Amino acid sequence: MARILTGIQSTNIPHLGNILGALSPAVALSKNPNNHCIYFIADLHSLTSIKDADFRKESAMAVAATWLAFGLDTDKNILFRQSDVPEVCELTWYLGCFMSYQRLQLAHSFKDKSENLSDVNAGLFTYPVLMAADILMYDTEIVPVGKDQKQHIEFTRDLAEKINHQYNQELFVVPKEQIDEQVMVVPGTDGRKMSKSYSNFINIFLPEKELKKVIGSIVTDSTPLEEPKNPDTCNVFALYKLIANAEQTNVLREKYLAGNFGYGHAKAALLELLLDYYREPRTRYNELMNDRGLLEAELKKGEDKARSIATPVLGRVRTALGF
Ligand code: ADP
Ligand code: TRP
Repeated sequence: MARILTGIQSTNIPHLGNILGALSPAVALSKNPNNHCIYFIADLHSLTSIKDADFRKESAMAVAATWLAFGLDTDKNILFRQSDVPEVCELTWYLGCFMSYQRLQLAHSFKDKSENLSDVNAGLFTYPVLMAADILMYDTEIVPVGKDQKQHIEFTRDLAEKINHQYNQELFVVPKEQIDEQVMVVPGTDGRKMSKSYSNFINIFLPEKELKKVIGSIVTDSTPLEEPKNPDTCNVFALYKLIANAEQTNVLREKYLAGNFGYGHAKAALLELLLDYYREPRTRYNELMNDRGLLEAELKKGEDKARSIATPVLGRVRTALGF
């Protein structure tokens, strides 16, 4: 049984890029009977950027509802909110005392963020230590992440090995990252990588009318309706083919090439596809967001299961370090 863990920050409602790039593949991993998956909402990490308490809480609920709407089975696996197991903060302190300051200064993600953000706080700097604590707290073996997180997993592995060596015992399980090199980059409505930070994202949980508006805002060129169009340079087609099956994709490709098919028609096809493909998650998501009791009960169940793993690990660490 492989123990797999990953987290998603609660910085907004997960968008189509998050779903196709991270969430759906993680749910697929959880369906393998040989895997035990621990997925969590990294709300402590999101405090580095989100200071609005209500927005952060609401985003945490949205992330939880998305995991559940996409079919994560929480009887077999674990879904929890990071801040519900504050023991991770204690482990963060211990790990921080073994993490080299110079090495943290070399973190790519910190360098990128500190160049682009006005609020460069210490939490942003020690972010990888909290992430290492998330991973080591649960004796994690495999961490599925995007390429941008690779260095953070290296920090985690090095910390685990260093401390194991120093205390001459297998205190921590040394984790490995799992990076899907072929992972798709989902384009946003403006053709750049879909991201919260560019406001070019598609929230698939919107009511149909609003979703239609967002799809309508996808940038296209000005080829007239009657002329043939190049599907391979079109943002609408790029999104369509990420979701549609081969046959559907071919049908749409032919329509582009034939002419007399406008971008309005293509957008209508994309909207119909999204509504059809995500019918169940859309319904389930909205049910869950309207039943906070059920969502909280799911998170409480996850908290209890997560804590039952974290408590003995933390006990082991306290003993080894002499606390
Ligand atoms: P954002 O860029 O919107 O802030 P995050 O950095 O919070 O998104 O990403 C959370 C997860 O979703 C990461 O694992 C990331 O790899 C994945 N992801 C985000 N945007 C995309 C995208 N456009 N295409 C594919 N995967 C994405
Ligand atoms: N840093 C990750 C991201 O921004 C989220 C995260 C926090 C995480 N703790 C983690 C991912 C532990 C994997 C394991 O995408």
